[in-house]
Amino acid sequence: MRKEILRNLATPFRKHGRLESVLKITRLPNGRSPFVHQLVIPHATYSPWWADAEFQIIVRQIGSATLVDIYRLYELWSLVGQVQHLKGDILEVGVWRGGSGCLLAAKAKADGLQAQVFLCDTFAGVVKASAHDTEYTGGEHSDTSADAVTTLASRLELENVHVLKGIFPDETSEPLESHTFRLCHIDVDVYDSARGVFDWAWPRLVTGGVIVFDDFGFHDCDGVTRFVTETGRRVDALLVHNLNGHAILVKTNESAREVSA
Ligand SMILES: C[S@@+](CC[C@H](N)C(=O)[O-])C[C@H]1O[C@@H](n2cnc3c(N)ncnc32)[C@H](O)[C@@H]1O
Repeated sequence: MRKEILRNLATPFRKHGRLESVLKITRLPNGRSPFVHQLVIPHATYSPWWADAEFQIIVRQIGSATLVDIYRLYELWSLVGQVQHLKGDILEVGVWRGGSGCLLAAKAKADGLQAQVFLCDTFAGVVKASAHDTEYTGGEHSDTSADAVTTLASRLELENVHVLKGIFPDETSEPLESHTFRLCHIDVDVYDSARGVFDWAWPRLVTGGVIVFDDFGFHDCDGVTRFVTETGRRVDALLVHNLNGHAILVKTNESAREVSA
């Protein structure tokens, strides 16, 4: 386990190069973005993800089928456990090779949730990049396929997984129109996609349900940071800025939403 922990600690340096390169992602607000960036290293040390045997098994099984790090995977894992008492399905938009989506489905299965898990992606890369996005231009993460995700789900014996191929919500939301959701993971990298998925999912989220935005605070995903910052100001939600790159929005009160609409 010590080796895995050290490898994980070194990941930001492996990804960005030596310390000097990591310092390059330090940014002050500029003409393109109002946000300040630095590599965030929390000082707390409690790390339950290393001690959760069931979680570690799934992480090994999904292997390189995810771009999501262990901190965010563990948060997804533990949130599925925390929405057990709610009704509704689980939605992920932004699936790539299926790692985070299958982890959600594996936990839902392990905890006996009566929930289907819908995994939606173009499988042709990121769409709807716009002037809000400082680095994404469209087409990134196209090195995958719906078949790869279906194969991973079958290998993990996840009968609760349904893969939908196409732009969400524009092309693939129709069969889900009448569904409600207890958890929604939005991992789409850019402003307009995040907004489109959120606008579709929010009215279908049950009270107490949770939307997890990936990409929040990453130096190359300012569009998502901007969208969540704007959206989190609503009266019917509690927004948590988690330092791991997630923003978590909990739906607090249906009637307040109607008043504020
Ligand atoms: C960073 S990847 C997702 C990573 C994945 N959650 C994992 O476990 O590694 C982002 C994905 O979002 C998808 N995407 C972006 N906007 C989308 C949209 N509006 N509809 C469907 N897929 C979208 C892209 O095709 C891409 O595969």
